[in-house]
Order: sequence, then C-alpha cells, then structure tokens
Amino acid sequence: MYPVEFPRNAWYVAAMSQEVSRELMSRWIMDDPICLYRRLDGAPVAMVDRCIHRQMPLSKGRLREDKLECGYHGITYDTDGRAVRIPSQDFVPPACRVRSYPLVESGGLVWIWMGEPEMADPSALPDHHWLNDASRKTIGGLLPMKARAQLLNENLLDLSHLTFLHPDSIGSEAIAELPVTTEFGDTWVRATREMNDVDCPPFFTKVMGVSGRIDRGQVAAFTAPSFHVTHVSAKPAGGGHEELCEHVVLHCITPERRTSTHYFWLVSRAYNVDDAEVDALWTHGGRNVFGQDVDACEAIEGVISAYEPSYPVELNMKVDGGPLRARRIVERLVAAERTAPDQASAETSTSQA
Ligand code: FES
Ligand SMILES: [Fe+2]
Repeated sequence: MYPVEFPRNAWYVAAMSQEVSRELMSRWIMDDPICLYRRLDGAPVAMVDRCIHRQMPLSKGRLREDKLECGYHGITYDTDGRAVRIPSQDFVPPACRVRSYPLVESGGLVWIWMGEPEMADPSALPDHHWLNDASRKTIGGLLPMKARAQLLNENLLDLSHLTFLHPDSIGSEAIAELPVTTEFGDTWVRATREMNDVDCPPFFTKVMGVSGRIDRGQVAAFTAPSFHVTHVSAKPAGGGHEELCEHVVLHCITPERRTSTHYFWLVSRAYNVDDAEVDALWTHGGRNVFGQDVDACEAIEGVISAYEPSYPVELNMKVDGGPLRARRIVERLVAAERTAPDQASAETSTSQA
C-alpha cells in the first residue's frame, strides 16, 4: 500500500522564495496549517496558522512590524510564536503561544522542519547546490496535486513512463526498452539508464538544439523522504564531451494533507543560460510535462482511495525495484518516528499549541 504518512523530522520545501513576502500567506503542510511571512529584515517566519484563543487563522490577521496580530480579538505574537499582548488583560500567560517552525532559505526556496525543532540541522538539507550556482540558469514552478506524495516519489524513480506519458516531449521508445540499473542505501535510491545512439526526443531539440541520434544519460536520484534530482544529459551520438548538454531537475515533494501534495519542480541547466527563449520553453514545457505526471498520480489516487481501507491487487515489474525501495524507506522512517519516545512528546506539545 502506498504510504500517506511521511516522516516529520526532515526538511521539506514550504514555498518558493518569491511567494513569501510581507503579505501573510497560508499553506497546509503535512496536515498542519502554516502561516508564512517575512520580517522587516527579510528573514522568513513560519508559525501554525491558528490562534491559540479561538483557532482563527493567523494569516487573516495583520503584521505589526515583525509581530503578528490576530484578526479576531487581537492577540499579538512574536516571531517565535510567543504571545506578547492580549488586548483585554495585562497578564500574558506563558501558555499563550503557538508553534513556530525552523526555516532555512536557500536556492530560492524556503525549507521548513515540521518535526522536533532541536533536530533541525541546516547541514541536513538535501544537496541542491545547482540552485545556488550562478553559472547555471534555473526555471521552476509549483504544481498542486490532489494525490498522495508517495505516488510522485514512485513516478520519479520509474522513468520508463516517459515513453508513454510524455511521448510528445521528453519520451522516446528507447527509454522503456533499455534496462535500468538500481542502487540504494538506507535513505537513498538511484536508478540509472545509459541510452547510446537513440532518437532525440522533440523537446531536447527545442531547448538544447540537438537532433537526430544522440547519446542520452538519465539518472534518477532519490533522497528520502521526498527529494529527487533527475540528471539528464544529451550529445550527438558518439560526440565528444564538449558537445554535451546537461541539466538537472529537482523535484521537491511536500505533503499537503494525506492525499494532496505541493510539487515544486526546478530545472537547472548548464546550456543556453542566457537564452530567454529557452527560459520560456522550460517554463511552459516544465508545467506541461510535470503536469502530465500530476494528472497520472491524481487519476491513480482516484482509483486507490475508492478501495480504502482495502487495496486493489498490484503486479510489480522489473522496473519497480527503485520505487518499491523508496516506499520501504518512507515506511521505515515513519515507523521509527512513531516508536521514538521524544517524538511522541513533541506531537503532544504540537496538539496543545
Ligand atoms: S481568535 Fe485570535 S485573539 Fe481570539
Ligand atoms: Fe514524468
């Protein structure tokens, strides 16, 4: 069965940097409503989007410099979630606070830690250095998906689907036909396909300028619980290294609710970096191609959720080694958090916040 729960002690992308401003913003993440905004010095802030008094979404309130004033009866919270003012009384009890969340802003993304705050280590962010590399160009977007996050985790580790789901853009016959090599560790999976002397897919011709027969490389790398980097390369068949075009696609998958997901996709390329036309092609093409994945996951969600709590029989094929490994890793991480005593107390304090 595809898991619907994800581990909380991990970094997830909460928003793209340009989404977070001095306007209060609300976004559900892992079944929690989150209010996001920026302090006057530009640093992002996240706190639970419900007032401790009567559950009014704080995102419906207003900013008083860096502090957040509830729009219902005016309790005012500091950036750490501690209330500093209750309009009708002098005394502010210590329990008058809401949960705030550790954030890190890097690579044009705001990353959030939904688990135990003391475990939030910025050095544990998944490798996204391409986004901070000024010699590259990145185009990205956010796609809402009405399906559980794990469906996308598995979609991204079985790229044999390119042939059938994306035939007019990045798919070609060779992908489904050629074998895949799968490697894995405790918290990662990597699926590699080398495709030499194969037909160039139509979209590569548009953005890279290659055509005819090409040598194509494709590595799908998963870092648990829901971060993927797809390494893509292409060059004329038998061509030298100097003719290589290379891009990576970063897929940051953030569960919204149990069966809905925020899908952040970012294409970072090392070719034609100053070409605005290629930017536009990727903006449109990315939305189009990754939107086809979203459509497929939503269609599958419609089927499997109708069978719950049971589950229809599913047959696994050779290409499913990577996806199944990722499924087991997510299940194991969730189970480990469930049995950890510290996490149990953290969840209690969350529900009281
Ligand atoms: S609901 Fe926020 S102050 Fe009353
Ligand atoms: Fe796809």
